[in-house]
Amino acid sequence: MITVLGSYNKDIYIMIDHFPLSGETVFIKDIKYFHGGKGSNQAVSARRLGISTTFLGAVGDDQFGREALEFWKEEGVIADNVKIKKGVSTGTAYIILNQNGESQILVNRGANASLSVDDVKEALKGDILLTQLEINEEVVKYSLKSFDGLKILNPAPANLIDPEIFSYVDILTPNDIEIHELIQNDDIVGGAQSLLNKVKKAVIITLGDRGALIVLKDRTIHIEAPKVPVIDETGAGDVFNAALAVYLTKGYSIEEATRLAVYIASFSVTKMGALGPKIDEVRPFLEEKGLI
Ligand code: RIB
Repeated sequence: MITVLGSYNKDIYIMIDHFPLSGETVFIKDIKYFHGGKGSNQAVSARRLGISTTFLGAVGDDQFGREALEFWKEEGVIADNVKIKKGVSTGTAYIILNQNGESQILVNRGANASLSVDDVKEALKGDILLTQLEINEEVVKYSLKSFDGLKILNPAPANLIDPEIFSYVDILTPNDIEIHELIQNDDIVGGAQSLLNKVKKAVIITLGDRGALIVLKDRTIHIEAPKVPVIDETGAGDVFNAALAVYLTKGYSIEEATRLAVYIASFSVTKMGALGPKIDEVRPFLEEKGLI
């Protein structure tokens, strides 16, 4: 079983032709609402690939929170320990999506920011813990420290205060921007190797349409991504992390699990929204590419 600890946001998509320059006004083409939040995206995407998944997080006592609880029920994600915070609004994300499928995201954390250690400490069970940094860092740190199983930290966003947290992580999965923020230089492989003084097994850097780099203590492996038509790249990292956790749970090696995760994340950017595909939807694509 996978336990995903993290955020839920109602995603409010603002569709435009191009990102405004500073001082420029652009017209919105459309506004759409989706379920989002890095934690919830990862939990739902893992469940859709056929693994029992628990989500730990918080929503507000409002309409968006009620819709989220209904959504997890429909998706089969176990959300019994999700906290409903009184007098606080559910997190919202404003996703500005241009016509090339590129996005910029602003997050109002709402209830996510009030999730506490006490809210989660009895529920930290399972084979794999997957978490990110849209909730309070002290909750992430406590959970990684006390969880008894494989621990994956997706350092998104990479606004980390206490680097000690890496000592409790088995696999760290920054994207290209996040690894630069974490190491503060351009040598991403050298920087990832230095993070491996603390991170126990691997640093996997996701590189969008260039695939992923698996940096291990003794070697680096580049996994290429397939060429696909991009509609919406939002959440590709979430789908990657979900699929990685799923295939590691199923006993695949880090290299095999990363390759499947790169392909499933690539498939996901051909559709709108930040969630991954159901296994039946993506299976023909994986078969065609010779991966399963
Ligand atoms: O990773 C994509 C997610 O980031 C969106 O769903 C949005 O809610 C923000 O959390």
